[in-house]
Amino acid sequence: MKSYTRPIILVTGKNGQVGWELQRTLMPLGTIIALGRDELDLTKHDRIRDVIQRFKPEVIINAAAYTAVDKAETELDLAMKINGDAPGILASEAKKIGALLIHYSTDYVFDGCKDSAYVETDVPNPLNHYGQTKLAGEMAIQAIDCEYLVLRTTWVYAGRGQNFLMTVLRLAQEREELRMIADQLGSPTWARLIAETTAHVIRQALNEKLAGRFESGLYHLTSAGKTSWFGFAEKIVELAKAGSEGHHLLVQKIHPITTEEYPLPAIRPKNSLLSSASLIKRFDLTMPHWESVLTLCFQDVED
Ligand SMILES: NC(=O)c1ccc[n+]([C@@H]2O[C@H](COP(=O)([O-])OP(=O)(O)OC[C@H]3O[C@@H](n4cnc5c(N)ncnc54)[C@H](OP(=O)(O)O)[C@@H]3O)[C@@H](O)[C@H]2O)c1
Repeated sequence: MKSYTRPIILVTGKNGQVGWELQRTLMPLGTIIALGRDELDLTKHDRIRDVIQRFKPEVIINAAAYTAVDKAETELDLAMKINGDAPGILASEAKKIGALLIHYSTDYVFDGCKDSAYVETDVPNPLNHYGQTKLAGEMAIQAIDCEYLVLRTTWVYAGRGQNFLMTVLRLAQEREELRMIADQLGSPTWARLIAETTAHVIRQALNEKLAGRFESGLYHLTSAGKTSWFGFAEKIVELAKAGSEGHHLLVQKIHPITTEEYPLPAIRPKNSLLSSASLIKRFDLTMPHWESVLTLCFQDVED
Protein backbone atom coordinates (compact mmCIF):
# COMPACT_ATOMS: atom_id res chain seq x y z
CA MET A 1 0.00 0.00 0.00
CA LYS A 2 1.27 3.48 -0.91
CA SER A 3 2.33 5.58 2.04
CA TYR A 4 2.95 9.30 2.30
CA THR A 5 5.86 9.17 4.73
CA ARG A 6 7.94 12.21 3.84
CA PRO A 7 6.22 12.99 0.54
CA ILE A 8 8.10 15.08 -2.01
CA ILE A 9 6.46 18.50 -2.15
CA LEU A 10 7.37 20.72 -5.10
CA VAL A 11 6.75 24.44 -4.57
CA THR A 12 6.87 26.98 -7.40
CA GLY A 13 7.41 30.70 -6.79
CA LYS A 14 9.62 30.20 -3.74
CA ASN A 15 10.51 33.90 -3.49
CA GLY A 16 6.94 35.19 -3.44
CA GLN A 17 5.02 36.08 -0.30
CA VAL A 18 3.24 32.73 -0.05
CA GLY A 19 6.08 30.66 -1.54
CA TRP A 20 8.56 32.00 0.98
CA GLU A 21 6.30 31.09 3.91
CA LEU A 22 5.48 27.67 2.44
CA GLN A 23 9.15 26.65 2.47
CA ARG A 24 9.24 27.16 6.23
CA THR A 25 5.80 25.90 7.17
CA LEU A 26 5.89 22.70 5.13
CA MET A 27 9.25 21.45 6.45
CA PRO A 28 7.79 18.93 8.92
CA LEU A 29 5.49 17.48 6.25
CA GLY A 30 8.01 16.11 3.77
CA THR A 31 10.91 16.81 1.44
CA ILE A 32 10.49 20.29 0.06
CA ILE A 33 11.76 21.15 -3.40
CA ALA A 34 11.22 24.88 -3.67
CA LEU A 35 11.98 26.53 -7.00
CA GLY A 36 12.16 30.19 -7.95
CA ARG A 37 11.64 31.70 -11.39
CA ASP A 38 15.34 31.05 -12.23
CA GLU A 39 14.91 27.32 -11.68
CA LEU A 40 11.37 26.91 -13.00
CA ASP A 41 10.01 29.64 -15.25
CA LEU A 42 6.30 29.02 -15.78
CA THR A 43 6.44 30.57 -19.26
CA LYS A 44 8.59 27.57 -20.30
CA HIS A 45 6.05 24.82 -20.53
CA ASP A 46 8.49 22.06 -21.57
CA ARG A 47 10.61 22.90 -18.57
CA ILE A 48 7.56 22.44 -16.30
CA ARG A 49 7.04 18.98 -17.75
CA ASP A 50 10.75 18.07 -17.36
CA VAL A 51 10.92 19.22 -13.73
CA ILE A 52 7.83 17.30 -12.69
CA GLN A 53 8.93 14.17 -14.52
CA ARG A 54 12.35 14.43 -12.86
CA PHE A 55 11.20 14.91 -9.25
CA LYS A 56 7.90 13.00 -9.43
CA PRO A 57 6.49 14.87 -6.41
CA GLU A 58 3.50 13.59 -4.47
CA VAL A 59 2.35 17.19 -4.03
CA ILE A 60 2.78 20.18 -6.36
CA ILE A 61 2.06 23.63 -4.92
CA ASN A 62 1.82 26.44 -7.43
CA ALA A 63 2.63 29.62 -5.49
CA ALA A 64 4.05 31.35 -8.57
CA ALA A 65 1.92 33.82 -10.46
CA TYR A 66 1.98 36.97 -12.53
CA THR A 67 0.67 39.31 -9.81
CA ALA A 68 1.34 42.77 -11.30
CA VAL A 69 -2.36 43.62 -11.55
CA ASP A 70 -1.98 46.96 -13.34
CA LYS A 71 0.83 45.83 -15.65
CA ALA A 72 -1.32 42.91 -16.74
CA GLU A 73 -3.57 45.40 -18.53
CA THR A 74 -0.77 45.83 -21.09
CA GLU A 75 0.86 42.38 -20.76
CA LEU A 76 -2.14 40.10 -21.21
CA ASP A 77 -0.26 37.45 -23.22
CA LEU A 78 2.52 37.08 -20.66
CA ALA A 79 0.08 37.08 -17.73
CA MET A 80 -2.08 34.48 -19.50
CA LYS A 81 0.91 32.22 -20.16
CA ILE A 82 1.84 32.22 -16.46
CA ASN A 83 -1.58 32.40 -14.78
CA GLY A 84 -3.83 30.82 -17.38
CA ASP A 85 -1.79 28.23 -19.30
CA ALA A 86 0.89 27.01 -16.85
CA PRO A 87 -1.65 25.75 -14.27
CA GLY A 88 -3.11 23.48 -16.97
CA ILE A 89 0.35 22.03 -17.72
CA LEU A 90 0.95 21.50 -13.98
CA ALA A 91 -2.44 19.79 -13.75
CA SER A 92 -1.81 17.43 -16.65
CA GLU A 93 1.62 16.49 -15.28
CA ALA A 94 0.09 16.00 -11.82
CA LYS A 95 -2.54 13.72 -13.33
CA LYS A 96 0.10 11.57 -15.08
CA ILE A 97 1.91 10.83 -11.81
CA GLY A 98 -1.08 10.90 -9.43
CA ALA A 99 0.16 14.00 -7.58
CA LEU A 100 -2.02 16.36 -5.60
CA LEU A 101 -2.00 19.88 -7.10
CA ILE A 102 -2.52 22.87 -4.81
CA HIS A 103 -3.08 26.12 -6.69
CA TYR A 104 -3.91 29.65 -5.48
CA SER A 105 -6.38 31.98 -7.06
CA THR A 106 -7.96 35.31 -6.24
CA ASP A 107 -11.05 37.33 -5.36
CA TYR A 108 -10.35 39.27 -8.59
CA VAL A 109 -12.24 36.54 -10.48
CA PHE A 110 -15.37 38.33 -9.16
CA ASP A 111 -16.78 41.73 -10.14
CA GLY A 112 -17.36 42.84 -6.53
CA CYS A 113 -21.02 43.70 -7.10
CA LYS A 114 -22.35 41.23 -4.52
CA ASP A 115 -23.32 42.85 -1.20
CA SER A 116 -22.03 39.97 0.97
CA ALA A 117 -19.03 37.63 0.98
CA TYR A 118 -18.59 35.53 -2.14
CA VAL A 119 -19.02 31.77 -1.89
CA GLU A 120 -17.46 29.18 -4.19
CA THR A 121 -20.66 28.69 -6.20
CA ASP A 122 -20.96 32.40 -7.11
CA VAL A 123 -20.40 33.05 -10.80
CA PRO A 124 -17.05 34.73 -11.61
CA ASN A 125 -16.97 37.88 -13.73
CA PRO A 126 -13.47 39.40 -13.66
CA LEU A 127 -13.11 43.14 -14.17
CA ASN A 128 -9.46 43.14 -15.26
CA HIS A 129 -6.90 41.12 -17.22
CA TYR A 130 -5.27 39.70 -14.10
CA GLY A 131 -8.64 38.35 -12.93
CA GLN A 132 -9.31 36.90 -16.38
CA THR A 133 -5.97 35.09 -16.43
CA LYS A 134 -6.44 33.70 -12.91
CA LEU A 135 -9.92 32.46 -13.82
CA ALA A 136 -8.47 30.81 -16.94
CA GLY A 137 -5.96 29.01 -14.67
CA GLU A 138 -8.72 27.72 -12.40
CA MET A 139 -10.69 26.49 -15.40
CA ALA A 140 -7.66 24.80 -16.97
CA ILE A 141 -7.08 22.80 -13.79
CA GLN A 142 -10.74 21.87 -13.50
CA ALA A 143 -10.81 20.77 -17.15
CA ILE A 144 -7.79 18.45 -16.72
CA ASP A 145 -9.43 17.05 -13.60
CA CYS A 146 -6.32 15.88 -11.77
CA GLU A 147 -6.54 15.62 -7.99
CA TYR A 148 -6.50 19.29 -7.05
CA LEU A 149 -7.41 21.93 -4.51
CA VAL A 150 -7.71 25.50 -5.72
CA LEU A 151 -7.53 28.00 -2.87
CA ARG A 152 -8.79 31.51 -3.63
CA THR A 153 -7.40 34.15 -1.34
CA THR A 154 -7.35 37.94 -1.11
CA TRP A 155 -5.40 41.04 0.03
CA VAL A 156 -2.22 39.06 0.77
CA TYR A 157 0.50 40.75 2.82
CA ALA A 158 3.72 39.78 4.60
CA GLY A 159 6.27 41.35 6.91
CA ARG A 160 8.84 41.48 4.09
CA GLY A 161 9.00 42.28 0.40
CA GLN A 162 6.59 44.52 -1.46
CA ASN A 163 2.99 44.57 -0.34
CA PHE A 164 0.42 46.93 1.18
CA LEU A 165 1.73 46.55 4.74
CA MET A 166 5.31 47.37 3.77
CA THR A 167 4.17 50.22 1.48
CA VAL A 168 2.09 51.85 4.23
CA LEU A 169 4.99 51.55 6.70
CA ARG A 170 7.34 53.17 4.22
CA LEU A 171 4.94 55.99 3.33
CA ALA A 172 4.17 56.58 7.03
CA GLN A 173 7.88 57.18 7.59
CA GLU A 174 8.10 59.59 4.63
CA ARG A 175 4.87 61.64 4.77
CA GLU A 176 2.68 63.42 7.33
CA GLU A 177 -0.56 62.69 5.46
CA LEU A 178 -1.70 59.61 3.55
CA ARG A 179 -4.74 59.01 1.35
CA MET A 180 -6.24 55.52 1.34
CA ILE A 181 -9.19 54.01 -0.52
CA ALA A 182 -12.16 53.50 1.79
CA ASP A 183 -14.79 52.07 -0.58
CA GLN A 184 -13.19 48.70 -1.36
CA LEU A 185 -13.75 45.95 1.20
CA GLY A 186 -11.64 42.85 1.87
CA SER A 187 -9.97 40.68 4.49
CA PRO A 188 -6.23 41.27 4.75
CA THR A 189 -4.63 37.81 4.81
CA TRP A 190 -1.09 37.13 6.04
CA ALA A 191 0.92 34.91 3.69
CA ARG A 192 1.90 32.81 6.73
CA LEU A 193 -1.75 32.06 7.51
CA ILE A 194 -2.16 30.86 3.93
CA ALA A 195 0.95 28.67 4.20
CA GLU A 196 -0.06 27.18 7.55
CA THR A 197 -3.59 26.50 6.36
CA THR A 198 -2.14 24.90 3.24
CA ALA A 199 -0.05 22.56 5.42
CA HIS A 200 -3.16 21.39 7.31
CA VAL A 201 -5.06 20.98 4.08
CA ILE A 202 -2.27 18.91 2.48
CA ARG A 203 -2.00 16.60 5.47
CA GLN A 204 -5.72 15.88 5.44
CA ALA A 205 -5.86 15.63 1.65
CA LEU A 206 -3.04 13.04 1.58
CA ASN A 207 -4.83 10.99 4.24
CA GLU A 208 -8.02 11.21 2.18
CA LYS A 209 -6.11 10.10 -0.91
CA LEU A 210 -4.70 7.10 0.97
CA ALA A 211 -8.20 6.20 2.14
CA GLY A 212 -9.51 6.56 -1.41
CA ARG A 213 -11.96 9.31 -0.48
CA PHE A 214 -10.25 12.47 -1.69
CA GLU A 215 -12.40 14.91 -3.63
CA SER A 216 -10.95 17.79 -5.61
CA GLY A 217 -12.44 21.21 -5.07
CA LEU A 218 -12.20 24.97 -5.00
CA TYR A 219 -12.20 26.78 -1.65
CA HIS A 220 -11.96 30.31 -0.32
CA LEU A 221 -9.20 30.96 2.22
CA THR A 222 -9.00 34.35 3.95
CA SER A 223 -8.81 35.83 7.42
CA ALA A 224 -12.10 36.51 9.18
CA GLY A 225 -13.56 40.00 9.47
CA LYS A 226 -13.49 42.81 6.95
CA THR A 227 -12.09 46.27 6.42
CA SER A 228 -11.18 48.77 3.69
CA TRP A 229 -7.68 49.75 2.53
CA PHE A 230 -8.19 52.84 4.70
CA GLY A 231 -9.06 50.70 7.75
CA PHE A 232 -6.13 48.38 7.03
CA ALA A 233 -3.74 51.36 6.81
CA GLU A 234 -5.08 52.86 10.04
CA LYS A 235 -4.49 49.57 11.89
CA ILE A 236 -0.97 49.27 10.46
CA VAL A 237 -0.06 52.76 11.68
CA GLU A 238 -1.70 52.14 15.07
CA LEU A 239 0.36 48.96 15.54
CA ALA A 240 3.54 50.63 14.31
CA LYS A 241 3.08 53.50 16.76
CA ALA A 242 2.35 51.11 19.64
CA GLY A 243 5.27 48.81 18.88
CA SER A 244 8.88 49.06 19.83
CA GLU A 245 10.29 47.88 16.50
CA GLY A 246 11.78 51.25 15.73
CA HIS A 247 9.35 52.51 13.09
CA HIS A 248 9.98 56.26 13.10
CA LEU A 249 6.71 57.56 11.77
CA LEU A 250 6.03 61.02 10.37
CA VAL A 251 2.40 60.34 9.55
CA GLN A 252 -0.22 62.38 11.43
CA LYS A 253 -3.38 61.79 9.43
CA ILE A 254 -4.82 59.23 7.00
CA HIS A 255 -7.58 60.55 4.73
CA PRO A 256 -10.26 58.19 3.37
CA ILE A 257 -10.74 58.57 -0.39
CA THR A 258 -12.89 56.91 -3.04
CA THR A 259 -11.70 54.54 -5.75
CA GLU A 260 -12.43 57.28 -8.31
CA GLU A 261 -10.00 59.62 -6.54
CA TYR A 262 -7.13 57.14 -7.09
CA PRO A 263 -7.48 55.89 -10.68
CA LEU A 264 -5.37 52.87 -11.66
CA PRO A 265 -5.07 51.01 -14.98
CA ALA A 266 -6.88 47.89 -13.69
CA ILE A 267 -10.40 48.16 -12.28
CA ARG A 268 -10.68 46.57 -8.83
CA PRO A 269 -13.78 44.92 -7.32
CA LYS A 270 -15.45 47.00 -4.59
CA ASN A 271 -16.24 43.84 -2.64
CA SER A 272 -13.32 41.40 -2.26
CA LEU A 273 -14.86 39.47 0.62
CA LEU A 274 -14.67 35.68 0.33
CA SER A 275 -16.43 33.31 2.71
CA SER A 276 -14.08 30.60 4.02
CA ALA A 277 -17.00 28.61 5.50
CA SER A 278 -16.61 25.62 3.14
CA LEU A 279 -12.87 25.30 3.80
CA ILE A 280 -13.43 25.60 7.56
CA LYS A 281 -16.06 22.86 7.43
CA ARG A 282 -14.20 20.36 5.23
CA PHE A 283 -10.80 20.76 6.91
CA ASP A 284 -12.04 21.42 10.45
CA LEU A 285 -10.20 24.76 10.75
CA THR A 286 -10.72 28.20 12.25
CA MET A 287 -9.90 31.37 10.37
CA PRO A 288 -8.66 34.04 12.79
CA HIS A 289 -9.72 37.71 12.59
CA TRP A 290 -7.49 39.82 10.32
CA GLU A 291 -6.66 42.26 13.15
CA SER A 292 -5.28 39.57 15.47
CA VAL A 293 -3.26 38.06 12.62
CA LEU A 294 -1.83 41.47 11.68
CA THR A 295 -0.86 42.06 15.30
CA LEU A 296 1.12 38.79 15.28
CA CYS A 297 2.68 39.55 11.91
CA PHE A 298 3.97 42.83 13.32
CA GLN A 299 6.40 40.94 15.52
CA ASP A 300 8.07 39.79 12.29
CA VAL A 301 8.06 43.00 10.28
CA GLU A 302 11.46 43.87 8.84
CA ASP A 303 12.47 47.48 9.50
N1 LIG B 1 -0.86 39.27 -3.50
C1 LIG B 1 -2.18 39.29 -3.35
O1 LIG B 1 -2.75 40.24 -2.79
C2 LIG B 1 -3.01 38.12 -3.80
C3 LIG B 1 -4.40 38.21 -3.67
C4 LIG B 1 -5.17 37.13 -4.09
C5 LIG B 1 -4.58 36.00 -4.61
N2 LIG B 1 -3.23 35.95 -4.74
C6 LIG B 1 -2.65 34.74 -5.33
O2 LIG B 1 -1.87 34.10 -4.33
C7 LIG B 1 -0.77 33.42 -4.94
C8 LIG B 1 0.53 33.84 -4.27
O3 LIG B 1 0.67 35.25 -4.43
P1 LIG B 1 1.81 36.10 -3.74
O4 LIG B 1 1.17 37.28 -3.12
O5 LIG B 1 2.69 35.20 -2.93
O6 LIG B 1 2.57 36.59 -5.06
P2 LIG B 1 4.01 37.29 -5.18
O7 LIG B 1 4.53 37.67 -3.86
O8 LIG B 1 3.85 38.31 -6.25
O9 LIG B 1 4.88 36.09 -5.71
C9 LIG B 1 4.70 35.55 -6.97
C10 LIG B 1 5.94 34.78 -7.32
O10 LIG B 1 5.74 34.25 -8.63
C11 LIG B 1 6.97 34.35 -9.30
N3 LIG B 1 6.81 34.40 -10.74
C12 LIG B 1 6.36 35.39 -11.53
N4 LIG B 1 6.44 35.04 -12.82
C13 LIG B 1 6.97 33.80 -12.84
C14 LIG B 1 7.32 32.90 -13.86
N5 LIG B 1 7.17 33.20 -15.15
N6 LIG B 1 7.82 31.69 -13.52
C15 LIG B 1 8.01 31.37 -12.24
N7 LIG B 1 7.73 32.18 -11.21
C16 LIG B 1 7.21 33.39 -11.52
C17 LIG B 1 7.59 35.66 -8.83
O11 LIG B 1 8.96 35.56 -9.05
P3 LIG B 1 9.99 36.77 -8.85
O12 LIG B 1 10.24 36.76 -7.36
O13 LIG B 1 11.14 36.39 -9.67
O14 LIG B 1 9.26 37.99 -9.34
C18 LIG B 1 7.21 35.66 -7.35
O15 LIG B 1 8.21 35.07 -6.56
C19 LIG B 1 -0.84 33.75 -6.44
O16 LIG B 1 -1.50 32.72 -7.11
C20 LIG B 1 -1.70 35.01 -6.48
O17 LIG B 1 -2.38 35.13 -7.71
C21 LIG B 1 -2.43 36.98 -4.33
